[in-house]
Amino acid sequence: MITFLDYYQNQVELSFDDHPFSDRPLHVWVIAVYEGKWLLTHHKQRGYEFPGGKVEPGETAEEAARREVMEETGGKIDSLKYVGQYRVAGKGDTIIKNIYFAQIGSLSSHLAVDETDGAFLFEELPDRLDTNRQYSFMMKDRVLPETLRVLSERRLV
Ligand code: GTP
Repeated sequence: MITFLDYYQNQVELSFDDHPFSDRPLHVWVIAVYEGKWLLTHHKQRGYEFPGGKVEPGETAEEAARREVMEETGGKIDSLKYVGQYRVAGKGDTIIKNIYFAQIGSLSSHLAVDETDGAFLFEELPDRLDTNRQYSFMMKDRVLPETLRVLSERRLV
């Protein structure tokens, strides 16, 4: 278990064990790769981020991951792997989020939904995301580097 403060100074607990905080988390985040490139979306307020969002009633977390990736990027997931989970103690409530790794099989040009501007492919992510104003707060704490380290250890990237 790794604990740290996020961009907004909220306490985060991160673990790469099997669902340490909840079997039914209400949020998902998907580290997505398409043809060897990182697949991100651009949120109109937050900036570039990996796709994700809330699990809807009646949906599993995996279904939410597939839906959010499609809605936010037009990407169809070929393979989806659970990687870890984190808990953020926010000012209001506490959220629990599953982290997935996804290989995208196809990318359809899609109409941007309300909040995002669709798919953006990157060969590499910038080094200093914490000070990069084009990137979302979600990309600025230790969740992303720790997840990338685990993906590399597991030989997924
Ligand atoms: P909407 O209903 O979509 O407008 O969402 P919201 O702003 O209420 O956010 P949500 O319920 O998704 O999350 C509540 C709070 O949890 C956010 O304001 C963030 O502070 C925090 N949060 C959500 N996702 C993450 C994340 O991936 N990382 C970190 N560090 N905090 C997060």
